[in-house]
Amino acid sequence: MPKIIFVDADGTQHEVEAKSGISIMENAIANNIDGIEAECGGSCMCATCHCFIEEDHAAKLPAMDSDEDEMLGFAAEERRPGSRLSCQVKMTDELDGIVVNLPAEQN
Ligand code: FES
Repeated sequence: MPKIIFVDADGTQHEVEAKSGISIMENAIANNIDGIEAECGGSCMCATCHCFIEEDHAAKLPAMDSDEDEMLGFAAEERRPGSRLSCQVKMTDELDGIVVNLPAEQN
């Protein structure tokens, strides 16, 4: 099973056994990660699943579509180069060890 390392805004790390084929957001919810709210349930309509993917893995992800790009403009915390909506990023075995930094706030 691939791993995801979620990192809270205060630096606390949570390493979880992830499932491939579902989104990073769904993996966060399944593992009770507090920093992901996902109010819209993964429909790319809320931006409360905002996260910052560290550089090495960000480069391996499929490019975001225009809906995700637009919705990131509504995120509570300012967008950075590694910003993604975690509901739009599917976990794969190749992403084993991905580091997902979480914003201090989602609303
Ligand atoms: S869960 Fe709402 S945009 Fe990702």
